[in-house]
Amino acid sequence: MKKPKVMLIGCGTVGQGLLEIIQKKKTDISLIAVSDFKKGSINCADGLDISKVLDLLNNGKSLEEYECGPKCCNGALHKGWDALKTIRECDADIMAEMTFTDIKTGQPATQHIEEALKRGMHVTTSNKGPAALYYNKLKRLADENDVKFLIEGTVMSGTPVFNLARECFAGCDITEVKGILNGTTNYILTKMEQEGWSYQDALKKAQELGYAEADPTADVEGFDALAKVVILSNVLLGGNVKPDDVPCEGISKITLEDIKTAAEDDMRYKLIGSTRREGDSIIASVKPVKLPMTDPLTGVNGANNALTFTTDLLGDVTIQGAGAGKIETGFSIFVDILNIIR
Ligand code: HSE
Repeated sequence: MKKPKVMLIGCGTVGQGLLEIIQKKKTDISLIAVSDFKKGSINCADGLDISKVLDLLNNGKSLEEYECGPKCCNGALHKGWDALKTIRECDADIMAEMTFTDIKTGQPATQHIEEALKRGMHVTTSNKGPAALYYNKLKRLADENDVKFLIEGTVMSGTPVFNLARECFAGCDITEVKGILNGTTNYILTKMEQEGWSYQDALKKAQELGYAEADPTADVEGFDALAKVVILSNVLLGGNVKPDDVPCEGISKITLEDIKTAAEDDMRYKLIGSTRREGDSIIASVKPVKLPMTDPLTGVNGANNALTFTTDLLGDVTIQGAGAGKIETGFSIFVDILNIIR
């Protein structure tokens, strides 16, 4: 695909990370629209100047202060369109859907994705709502329209999970995946144990660093890890699992005292998400587990995540890497775009 036209729906931390990467790597794409319900909406068929868009975002200004240069589009810059109008009116090749995650309804992202797929656009998203609730349906819609629906950033931010499985485990049966799937809670547990921080201070810092969800309850009560377990179950194990099928417990009841006592016994708490196939059933869960220090997962610190794939031909393969963050998740959208245009 020559110079693909890309639109961004939602442009918070992840969107800004993506734009910084595109600028830094001098990627040959045309950014034709950005629509964010808080930051404003602009589109120009001739392509927006990414530096100018980033300047507005970094200075906390509305995107609608954007002006095209004198040789651009001859006054055809549109402002103020909502996400659906932007998707319907702009002739993009690729939509990057980066609105906030609503794990309960999957909206408004699911509607945006359906609209884009029906119009023959490829879609990449880091939004866990649609991927957890409607992956199989959306993938079918993408196949019917002969376009791609890629979700690399939904699990372990840009650390390869789905690309790894698709490319490098081709021909293997994956029977189980298990690991640390939430950066915020891993950061909190690490800081509580290693620095003696309070739970609240660690959570506040995780929010400042851009790891936590808009509503951090999703992190600390395990719902974010739950969404990821559901996605892994359906995408890698071929399941049709719903969030309500999976028992889920977060870390909010773990005290500094619990962590200290565990450390005295050479143990460490980690929030573990797992899913495995048993015959026709999928058995999945999210819960805090006290692991012995000999377990390699105890060495995964801060916002890092880790995942062990159990396969028939390779045995266990474990990856560790970023699980959250602006550039790290921006990269997941970037790599999906590269995979679409290759
Ligand atoms: N809030 C999530 C986390 C972001 O902390 O892991 C990445 O999905």
